[in-house]
Amino acid sequence: MSDAPSTTTASKPRRILVSSALPYINGAIHLGHIVEAIQTDIWVRFQRQCGNECYYVCADDTHGTATLLRSQREGIAPEEIIRSTSEEHQRDYKGFGVEFDIFYTTHSEENRELVEGIYEKLVAGNHVHWKSVRQFFDPEKEIFLADRFIKGTCPKCKSEDQNGDSCDNCGGTYSPADLINPRSALSGATPVERESDHLFVKLSDFEETLREWVSPDRLQPEVVNKLNEWFSEGLRDWDVSRDAPYFGFEIPGTGEGSESEQGTKYFYVWVDAPVGYLAAFTKLCNETEGLEFDDFLKPGSDTEMYHFIGKDILYFHCLFWPALLHAGGFRLPTSVPVHGFLTVDGTKMSKSRGTFVQASTFLQYLPAEPLRYYFAAKFGSGLGDIDLNLQDFVQRVNSDLVGKVVNIASRCAGFLHRLHDGQLATELHQPELFDTASSAADHIAELFEQREYNRAVRRIMSIADEANRYIDEQQPWQLAKDETKAAEVQAVCTTGINLFRLLMIYLKPILPNLVVDAEEFLGTGSLSWADAATPLLGTNINKYTALMTRLDLKAVDAVIEASKADQAAAAAPVLAPPAGIELEDEITIDQFTPVDLRVARIEQANHVEGAGKLLQLHLDLGEEKRQVFAGIKAAYAPEDLVDTLVVLVANLAPRKMRFGVSEGMVLASGEGADVKLVRPQAGSVPGDRVR
Ligand code: 2FM
Ligand code: ZN
Repeated sequence: MSDAPSTTTASKPRRILVSSALPYINGAIHLGHIVEAIQTDIWVRFQRQCGNECYYVCADDTHGTATLLRSQREGIAPEEIIRSTSEEHQRDYKGFGVEFDIFYTTHSEENRELVEGIYEKLVAGNHVHWKSVRQFFDPEKEIFLADRFIKGTCPKCKSEDQNGDSCDNCGGTYSPADLINPRSALSGATPVERESDHLFVKLSDFEETLREWVSPDRLQPEVVNKLNEWFSEGLRDWDVSRDAPYFGFEIPGTGEGSESEQGTKYFYVWVDAPVGYLAAFTKLCNETEGLEFDDFLKPGSDTEMYHFIGKDILYFHCLFWPALLHAGGFRLPTSVPVHGFLTVDGTKMSKSRGTFVQASTFLQYLPAEPLRYYFAAKFGSGLGDIDLNLQDFVQRVNSDLVGKVVNIASRCAGFLHRLHDGQLATELHQPELFDTASSAADHIAELFEQREYNRAVRRIMSIADEANRYIDEQQPWQLAKDETKAAEVQAVCTTGINLFRLLMIYLKPILPNLVVDAEEFLGTGSLSWADAATPLLGTNINKYTALMTRLDLKAVDAVIEASKADQAAAAAPVLAPPAGIELEDEITIDQFTPVDLRVARIEQANHVEGAGKLLQLHLDLGEEKRQVFAGIKAAYAPEDLVDTLVVLVANLAPRKMRFGVSEGMVLASGEGADVKLVRPQAGSVPGDRVR
C-alpha cells in the first residue's frame, strides 16, 4: 500500500517525520488516546530499530471556546491550564512507554507564525472570501454558540434536552434552528439568531491537488473510498474563522479597517491544530543540531511524513490539511494511517460501566507493557475497531508473554549458570532452528512496516511455540543429570537463549522496557533489527530474574471500579439509578418513595487536591452533619456556595472515594460548566424532607 521504501533493504536510512493526533487540552488522556499513541510508538520504535531516522512529534490542542470557558469558570489563565495539563498529558503518555521527541503546544509563537504564513498565501492565492452566516448567539453570555452548546427539544421525536445538531433518542440530525425551545447550554438563555461575517477557504480550488494525492498507493482502501465519496458530493467551502470571544490566534487583517467591520476574528481551532504538527517539529529542529525543517517539509523532499489518526478526523486530515500544506508551499503527507475506535468488551467505552478508562487510572493498578502487547496483537492495518476484552487481555498476556516468551529464558538460564558459569556454547545445537526463526526477520519487518502488528505478533508467537517445543523435546533437565552431557546441555540451552533473543529483537518495538531488561540479562547492548541475522555465541549471560509477572484479573476489576469512581466524581451531582435499574427502565412510585431527599445547608466548601472536578461540601442537615463530594467545581466557586441550601439524597449508601467518604449526593442538573444545583423551596430549613 505504501510507496515508502522497504525498511530493511533500503541502502541509506530513511528520514521520517511522524505524528499522533493532538489531544485536546480540556480532558484527561484516556485509553482511546493511548491506543493510537501505542500504534504510532510501535511503528516509530520499529523504524529506529531498523536504523532509520524517525522523529515523533505531538502537542496539546489548546485553542477553542472550551478552553476560554474553562479559564473563565476556574479563574485560571489559559496559559496556566495549558502548562499544568500538558504536564499531566506527558506523564500519562510516558507511563505507557510512548516516547515523543517533542510534546509541544498549539499555543506557541512557532505555530502562530506558521498559521499566519499559510493564511497569507491562501489570501494571496485568492482562496479566501468573506461570507455572512446566520448563527445562534447567547444574549446573556454574549457569545456565538457552536452547535454543541445549544440544547432543546428534538424536532423529530420531541425528546427533551437534546443536542444542537443531533438527537440521542431517535438518532435524527438537524440544524439547531429546527430545535424546539432551543436554549444555550452555557447560560440557559434562549439563543437569538444573528448574522456574522466569516472567512471561507475555497476548498474546491485544491481539488486537483487533492485528487492526485488521494491514491491507493498511500492511503488505505477504505479511506480512498470515503474521500472519493466526498469528491463526488463536491468540496464545500471551509469556514476558517470564529468570532470573539475565542481563545486562539487572531486572523491578520480582520478587525478595524477590514472588509467586515465586525471586529477581530480568530482562526478556527481546526486550522491551527494540524499546523501544530509543524510547529512542534519547528521547535524540535531549533533544539536539535543538524535537523533541518526544510529537509522534511519542502515539496519534492525524499523524506517521509506520516500522521496517525482515528477515523473520526479523516476529513480534516485528508482534505483540509493537505490543502493547507499545499497552499503554504509545503510537501504533502506520505500517508495518513487511519485506525478504528477502541471498544471495551465489544461495546463503546462507557462511563457508567467503568470502561471509559483514564490512562492514569489504568496505571494505578496495572503495568503498561501488557496492554501494549495486547493492542499490538489486535492491531491490523484496517479501520476496524480494536476491542479490549478484559478477560482475554489477562489470559492472553499470561499465556503468551509469561507462559511462553519469558519462560524460555527462565528454562535455559539456570542450567547455563549451574554448569557453565553462564557461558553460552560456541555452537548451536540445532542451527536450522535458529536459521528459520532468524530468516523470519524480513517478513516480520514487512508486517510492522505495514502496521499489520497482529500478524507480526502471530508469527513471533509461533517462534515462541517452536522454542518451547524444542526445549520440551530436548529436556535439558534430564540431560543435566548426566555429567557427561554437560556440553550438550550448554548447546541446547544456548539454542533456547538464542531463540529467546530473536523474540526480544522482534518484540522490542512493542515491549521496549521488557527488552531493556532482557538486553541486560543477555549481556548484549541495545538489540537492533540487523542483530537477528547472527546468533549470540560464547559470551556470558547474567542471572535470570523475572522479566514479567502474571496479571491478576482482580487488578482489572479494580481499574473498572476506579473508573466508575472517576466518573462518579466527575458527575457526582447527577442522580444515579439504583443498582439493577437501567436509566431507560420505568420505575414505580414504590421504588422512588424510599429516596430520602433532604434540605441541607452548605456550611463550608473546599477545593479537593488532585480532583479536577470535585468540591468537598460540609453540609448541615439540622440534626447531623455530612461530608459530600460533588462534581460541581466547573460551575461554582467554593466561596459562593457557603450558606446555600441544596437538596441531598440523604439515604444514599456512603461511597468511598479517593479523597474520602462521600455521605450522600447533592442534586443538580446539567454537566460541566452548566451544572445547576437544585434548590429547595423558599423558606425551607436544613433537615426538611423534599417531596
Ligand atoms: O479530535 C481531536 O481530539 C483533536 N484534538 C485532534 C487534533 S489532531 C491535529 F489536527 F491536531
Ligand atoms: Zn429525536
